[in-house]
Amino acid sequence: MNPFIQIIMITALFLFPWPLTLSLFTFLTLFAISLSYWFVPGGFGWRKYNYYYLQETTKTLAGPIGWPILGTLPQMGCLAHQKLAAIATSLNAKRLMAFSLGAQPILISSHPDTAREILCSSSFSDRPIKESARLLMFERAIGFAPSNGTYWLQLRRIAATHMFSPRRISGLQGLRQRVADEMTVRVWEEMEKTGVVEVRGVLQEGSLSNILESVFGSCWSSSQKEELDNMVKEGYELISEFNWEDYFPLRFLDFYGVKRRCHKLAARVNSLVGKIVKERKGGEEDNMLVGGGNDFLSALLSLPKGEKLSDSDMVAILWEMIFRGTDTIAILLEWIMARMVLHQEIQIKVQHELDTFVGHHRHVLDSDITNLPYLKAVVKEVLRLHPPGPLLSWARLAIHDVHVDKVFIPAGTTAMVNMWAITHDSSIWEDPWAFKPERFINEDVSITGSDLRLAPFGSGRRVCPGKALGLTTVHLWLARLLHQFTWLPAQPIDLSECLKLSLEMKRSLACHVIRRNNITL
Ligand code: HEM
Repeated sequence: MNPFIQIIMITALFLFPWPLTLSLFTFLTLFAISLSYWFVPGGFGWRKYNYYYLQETTKTLAGPIGWPILGTLPQMGCLAHQKLAAIATSLNAKRLMAFSLGAQPILISSHPDTAREILCSSSFSDRPIKESARLLMFERAIGFAPSNGTYWLQLRRIAATHMFSPRRISGLQGLRQRVADEMTVRVWEEMEKTGVVEVRGVLQEGSLSNILESVFGSCWSSSQKEELDNMVKEGYELISEFNWEDYFPLRFLDFYGVKRRCHKLAARVNSLVGKIVKERKGGEEDNMLVGGGNDFLSALLSLPKGEKLSDSDMVAILWEMIFRGTDTIAILLEWIMARMVLHQEIQIKVQHELDTFVGHHRHVLDSDITNLPYLKAVVKEVLRLHPPGPLLSWARLAIHDVHVDKVFIPAGTTAMVNMWAITHDSSIWEDPWAFKPERFINEDVSITGSDLRLAPFGSGRRVCPGKALGLTTVHLWLARLLHQFTWLPAQPIDLSECLKLSLEMKRSLACHVIRRNNITL
């Protein structure tokens, strides 16, 4: 026991009558026990496992002790990725750091080596599921379905063939071009009408139209689109919302009404998406595939007998595609446009590349992108500086006891990778805070998960299946927007970040545009 507490107790014994001394003694003992329970590296969530680390002589985990009960929860929030990076650096725990979110033990890597160990290990191939994600049906979709058993594998296989295959991505070029046409028209109309373009609105509407048509074909009405837009926004809000029961065993409580709102939203999704599925099934029985049959829903309905999904599972995976496919692309493009407006000299360089390879008389095509290395380098540099999922959005779960970097990690630990910390680390990247697309001209760094210095789409078995579709869309739309307009700031560019489900610009981007060529909008 703490010698200080011992001295107080002995003094108290001499000075006070015994009942008071006994109470004081009990209080101090309980206080000392609770302190030793909480004062472990990583804090409250790691208290049960401290025993293992005390036994190990070589490798132990470092981490902030945090607050009693709450752990590091008070530090999370809009800039959690930056705060966790700073704590890991100060504790010399970039390779691995332990911390607690309430009673939940968390492990975080801010180093490519340990990031690879976590992301590519089958021991971390599940995800811890937040209550809101479960209620919003994502447990029956790719993102949160457990990786053991056949269901998750079956979903990934179906999506890889019918949603994300190279053939399907190139088959959607017409759609991407049409949406790019609509976006450029809207940009010009906004500019002519108000003198300012609110970039986020344009990109969000374009992304939603694009994903809706690739998922449902053209069989959705504008009122359904508006409803889905609201549902995606509400879903993002609910998943980003703090919920006590995700961190403490309090399943019966609903402090902030998150569960109630999730139930309501899931009912709306089921009703709207379920109705589209039902209508299409009716059409299928009449031998007319509404929407032309070249969309993901048609593919799901035409699966062979043994692979068919139930209606409710179909709703879950269609909803997931819309949910994941809308904001990721819009958020990334908003960051890219902000950088283009801020670094005018780089915008001019991209436009020069476009003028050289594409000219002034036609629109950019998917096939031009391979000839635009500088534009691709710009996208990579933005993914490095502003990774849309700085903590890789959805964490991983240790499904059994495992060792990472030779340190014992108990089953049930949530593991995260701080990709933002890795991409801003001066021992990994030269001049990491500078916006320099040239670095990727000098060195070809893969961003699809094989090089953990820059893995914005994650890595391993649960790597983002939408990465090729996402990149193809971002490349084409960026090329179209920069080919047709010069972008100027309407107000000082604010690069402040806010981490919700994805890392968003805190204040949305407003621009002026000038037309660059006479190609029809
Ligand atoms: C710029 C675009 C995108 C970025 C930066 C991004 C990023 C990510 C990241 C970091 C993960 C977690 C990977 C891991 O745990 O290793 C992920 C998973 C996922 N992404 Fe993406 N994503 C993007 C676009 C898309 C699109 C367009 C779709 C679908 C239309 C999509 C669907 C998914 C799904 C379903 C998962 C869960 C995979 C699984 O758990 O098996 N993503 N994404």
